[in-house]
Amino acid sequence: MTSGAAEPRLDGRAALVTGGTRGIGLAVAHRLGAAGAAVGITGRDPEGVRQAVGELEKAGVRAFGCAGDVADPAHLAACVRQLTEECGRLDILVNNAATNQPYGPLMEADPDRWTTAFATNVEAPLRLVQLAWRAWMREHGGAVVNICTEGTHGVGPNVGAYGTSKAALLHLTRQLAGELAPRVRVNAVSPGLVRTEMARFVWEGAEQRIADGLPLGRIGEPEDIADAVLWLVSDGARWVTGADLLVDGGTRVRAAAGSSAGYAVHEQLRAADGPTA
Ligand SMILES: NC(=O)c1ccc[n+]([C@@H]2O[C@H](COP(=O)([O-])OP(=O)(O)OC[C@H]3O[C@@H](n4cnc5c(N)ncnc54)[C@H](OP(=O)(O)O)[C@@H]3O)[C@@H](O)[C@H]2O)c1
Repeated sequence: MTSGAAEPRLDGRAALVTGGTRGIGLAVAHRLGAAGAAVGITGRDPEGVRQAVGELEKAGVRAFGCAGDVADPAHLAACVRQLTEECGRLDILVNNAATNQPYGPLMEADPDRWTTAFATNVEAPLRLVQLAWRAWMREHGGAVVNICTEGTHGVGPNVGAYGTSKAALLHLTRQLAGELAPRVRVNAVSPGLVRTEMARFVWEGAEQRIADGLPLGRIGEPEDIADAVLWLVSDGARWVTGADLLVDGGTRVRAAAGSSAGYAVHEQLRAADGPTA
């Protein structure tokens, strides 16, 4: 089915996507690249970065890689420097890299790992927005999307540290939207359960049960999220800032009605050993 609406175009623009080597980040990099943007991607594993850049280039995308941990401020500065030197601009920032550790009840949370979760999921996005603002966006404008989670709209077992950091990221999104308008639009996309490595411990072996409880009848694919990001950074969303776009197959609607696909997810979260990475 075609919508009849023109596909968003980003020709001549440059984008940075953190955690762009697989999953949602890689799908976002493909979508932005296919729309005409040059795309820089990050990830901790240098080989993963190299392979993803190769895959993007094969698809005709002008792609750059910057390997490192987003919790390292020097790495973030190097990424922004590299992209602005290569492209002469930085119009789009997608803060996608995140950790879902520490996993477990908050009363047992290791304070060091809690700190790492906030450094990765909250501080890094803020540092990158500051860097992008100073390097390009303050003068020329831009668009930022922070990848949050549908989970912040409720609470779930064992994901308290992750959810709390993502709730902070959502508030940061709104705060920045207020502070950076009208030059820069800052929005959030909040995915439901998506078929990626990060969430494998939730969906593997339970996919049909979870899908049966979802209004739209399936778990998400990375491209479902990438399409929302593409729209938010495009001119089609020119009057949208501070928004939290839920892309969750209706999970929240069902949860609000009291019988939730979320509950199937919660059963998994309660039973799972937790993420492996
Ligand atoms: N999948 C879901 O169900 C779901 C639901 C709600 C929200 N989200 C959010 O969606 C985003 C993407 O998750 P995903 O599911 O696509 O995960 P994924 O498939 O595991 O991909 C994560 C990406 O981030 C990179 N990464 C992880 N930690 C990093 C760090 N500290 N520094 C730099 N790069 C890092 C990974 O590469 P390296 O391992 O090489 O670093 C990889 O490129 C996250 O913000 C997540 O919270 C996901």
